[in-house]
Amino acid sequence: MKFHQVHLLPLLCLPSSKAWGTLGHTTVAYIASSLVSPPTTLFFQSILYNDTEHYLANIATWADSFRYTAAGRFSAPLHFIDARDDPPRSCGVQMKRDCGGSEGEGCIVGAIANYTGQLLDPNIPFWKRNMAAKFVVHFLGDIHQPLHTEALLRGGNSIPVLFGGKATNLHHVWDTSIPETHIGGYGHPFAQLWAANLTDSILHGVYRSQAENEWLEGMDLQDPESSALIWAGESNAAVCSTVLPQGQGGVEDVELSGKYFEDAVPVVESLIARAGLRLAKWLDLIALAAVRDEL
Ligand SMILES: *[C@@H]1O[C@H](CO)[C@@H](O)[C@H](O)[C@H]1NC(C)=O
Ligand SMILES: *[C@@H]1O[C@H](CO)[C@@H](O)[C@H](O)[C@H]1NC(C)=O
Ligand SMILES: *[C@@H]1O[C@H](CO)[C@@H](O)[C@H](O)[C@H]1NC(C)=O
Ligand SMILES: [Zn+2]
Repeated sequence: MKFHQVHLLPLLCLPSSKAWGTLGHTTVAYIASSLVSPPTTLFFQSILYNDTEHYLANIATWADSFRYTAAGRFSAPLHFIDARDDPPRSCGVQMKRDCGGSEGEGCIVGAIANYTGQLLDPNIPFWKRNMAAKFVVHFLGDIHQPLHTEALLRGGNSIPVLFGGKATNLHHVWDTSIPETHIGGYGHPFAQLWAANLTDSILHGVYRSQAENEWLEGMDLQDPESSALIWAGESNAAVCSTVLPQGQGGVEDVELSGKYFEDAVPVVESLIARAGLRLAKWLDLIALAAVRDEL
């Protein structure tokens, strides 16, 4: 079986990343590429300069490399919104309080609005539009990682925990350890298998009713900021319910690969599925509006 072949690939040392790791981002991208409409595929294949089925997955983690370059340093704060709430007692995201920068451009919510706006602007140069597409694909993934919507201890980066006996931090556990332990690897073939499963659940399975009735609620291309705030609010609610149900003390220096992991998996799966569906519909709206403008 194909799944077993890829399973035999050696597990290399994982680069430490500051977002859903490769697996999360590429899974979101593969879900989206199987759910977008055919004209959307052509539109973004052209912007992203790739006519294969991997056109979104290939660029899904670009923003996490770019942020560490001199040219991309400005974009580091755009991967998250630092909710100054009080988990687990109260969770919530507020634009004015939590988004850095004066114009609301200092956080992921403002960034989704900004780069969506750039994709809709027929006058911007090709290279900028290409970059905007890469940011939008990445940020719709990140905004569904609960700890990208939480200020507490740098989104959990400063909370030491154990996973499978190894010392790590809570942020990394959510980005990488939980998804990779659940799926058994992180390369694109793993992402494609996971995406196929989640796409099936969205279209025909356990997520169908939520996907049809709830997950696209409030999505409005005319108001990207409100749309992104809804998504951030949902991820942030998981900080109170699942990430820190007993507060910092419940996880600090605690082994999380047992019951904590098992409780987290269904939440991670649901968030990845939402991110993939929303990315697909968001790209559909952008492509539709952009093509209409050109007529
Ligand atoms: C398009 O994607 C394929 C598959 O990942 C890759 O091998 C190829 O190099 C990409 N093409 C371009 C122009 O980036
Ligand atoms: C995006 O942000 C830049 C830099 O702050 C700003 O100049 C530009 O007008 C914004 N674009 C949109 C579409 O919001
Ligand atoms: C996909 O779903 C099948 C059947 O529900 C399951 O046996 C398999 O382990 C799943 N694979 C992944 C990668 O989640
Ligand atoms: Zn990121």
